[in-house]
Amino acid sequence: MTHVATRIIREEHAALAAMLRSILLLIEQHRRESTQPDFAALRAMLFYVDEFPEQRHHRKESELLFPKLRARTPLSRELLDKLDADHACGEHMIRELEHALLGFEMLGESRRLAFEQAAQRYADFYLAHMALEEREILPLAERVLTVQDWADLDEAFAANRDPLIGHDPEPDYRALFTRIVGIVPAPIGLGSPRTTIATASFRRRQQETS
Ligand SMILES: [Fe+2]
Ligand SMILES: [Fe+2]
Repeated sequence: MTHVATRIIREEHAALAAMLRSILLLIEQHRRESTQPDFAALRAMLFYVDEFPEQRHHRKESELLFPKLRARTPLSRELLDKLDADHACGEHMIRELEHALLGFEMLGESRRLAFEQAAQRYADFYLAHMALEEREILPLAERVLTVQDWADLDEAFAANRDPLIGHDPEPDYRALFTRIVGIVPAPIGLGSPRTTIATASFRRRQQETS
């Protein structure tokens, strides 16, 4: 049986992967055409990554999921330490990436490459991190965690309510998501079929209420 928390973790991974790939595609397109990107759009996308995946998803893994695993099994200790270190490093890297974007916006062409490289590094780093969690950690969790562990995890992860996996945004976030959904170019879209459906239904709801 797959638990709610496991499903949410995989869906949030897919949403983050889709967002990272959209950012890279946007950057690549502007490089090819020697044009400046829509900086407000990129700022909104990076802000989302900082607010949802960084603050909610990764934090709950480090504060809840990994401690429960450590309590139940001696397996994969080194891997859990590495993933925890990734989470701490990721928070630092997203700030650096946001700063690199600001550098490109303020100083122009001379900072394009540094921003592109920082974006590629961040994307590669998290795609590898998420793949490791899905391949090693989630199956281990399904094997060793108890019914009570899963009740706690299901409740905690269900509270994330990431709009990119189909939830209505909380009031504070509504404007941000309207912006993100409006600016991500349609042919690029947000990658995975699930996320595309979530984005399409969010876009429809926006139209109905406006
Ligand atoms: Fe993680
Ligand atoms: Fe994760």
